[in-house]
Amino acid sequence: MAISSSSSSVLKIMLLLFSAVVGSGQLSPTYYARSCPKALSTIRAAVQSAVSSEKRMGASLLRLHFHDCFVQGCDGSVLLDDTSTFTGEKTAGPNQNSIRGFDVIDNIKKQVEAVCKQTVSCADILAVAARDSVVALGGPTWTVKLGRRDSTTASLSQANSDIPSPTSDLNVLISAFSKKGLSTSDMVTLSGGHTIGQARCTVFRTRIYNETNIDSAYAASLKSNCPSTGGDNNLSPLDVQTPVTFDNNYYNNLVIKKGLLHSDQQLYNGGSTNTQVNTYTRNPAKFSNDFAAAMVKMGDISPLTGTQGQIRLNCRKTN
Ligand code: HEM
Ligand SMILES: *[C@@H]1O[C@H](CO)[C@@H](O)[C@H](O)[C@H]1NC(C)=O
Repeated sequence: MAISSSSSSVLKIMLLLFSAVVGSGQLSPTYYARSCPKALSTIRAAVQSAVSSEKRMGASLLRLHFHDCFVQGCDGSVLLDDTSTFTGEKTAGPNQNSIRGFDVIDNIKKQVEAVCKQTVSCADILAVAARDSVVALGGPTWTVKLGRRDSTTASLSQANSDIPSPTSDLNVLISAFSKKGLSTSDMVTLSGGHTIGQARCTVFRTRIYNETNIDSAYAASLKSNCPSTGGDNNLSPLDVQTPVTFDNNYYNNLVIKKGLLHSDQQLYNGGSTNTQVNTYTRNPAKFSNDFAAAMVKMGDISPLTGTQGQIRLNCRKTN
């Protein structure tokens, strides 16, 4: 007994030393296993309920995690409200009148606080809600690494500079992801998030009126709800075929020139990423697997861990 318990202690110490040396071991799938065993089931139930009330919410929650991770890393900065003394990210060009789901996050946070006070970060809630949203819409699942802490800062300027623009060409999209440690292949895979959700007329107007690498019937049908002037906030689905199902139709659309955004169609416009798009049209299982892996990678972007940052009590403001 004494021998086995001491040897298991030695093992634990060795593991601790190992993870301290490796350094990247801060996030872990079992982070809340002891401190908040109900965290994951609480988040999942709330996401399922929100998505069954409104399918688009699944898309909106997935996007919130993306916009969080691309600005200062996955630290919940996107959730902070502006105040008279604090400038958040919500008025940045890519976010204003666009990102949504804050009330759902508030509701999840309230429920999680009720089961474990000040234990689960808003950044982790975003990461788990993104996964549960994809699953709720029929997509793949993955194991979310946990233990992110919440920022006490936000960056409006980084939100404006680092979240990719829908008017970007392929080389610019590649650079934007590279800046976050993500490969060109990750970029193509993660863009598959546009198999769900909606976009406003203002972000695709130039494409449907002025671009030539678009299916003409598709462009014509979009024009009926997106006039050349006005109607800026009118919505169209990013995936014209199955807008509330997480599948590979995003890529099927690209090969027939039915990408909604200029940036979408850039992935299949005769450049280096054409082959990967073709692969995903033939092999939806590969897309699912790659998407799961790429989401884990995106969720790893510069997290705050250990004693960095804080666990916010309210996702909209620092403690
Ligand atoms: C590759 C660069 C990307 C660009 C240029 C881009 C751009 C956009 C734009 C312009 C919209 C529509 C916003 C609006 O009209 O209000 C949008 C929506 C969306 N994006 Fe992206 N995005 C990119 C990557 C991603 C990634 C990596 C994900 C997630 C993995 C993602 C998930 C979504 C979702 C789910 C929506 C729909 C949201 C909703 O319906 O509320 N996007 N994106
Ligand atoms: C299309 O291009 C023309 C000529 O450059 C420009 O005047 C017009 O504003 C553009 N339309 C849209 C909707 O971008």
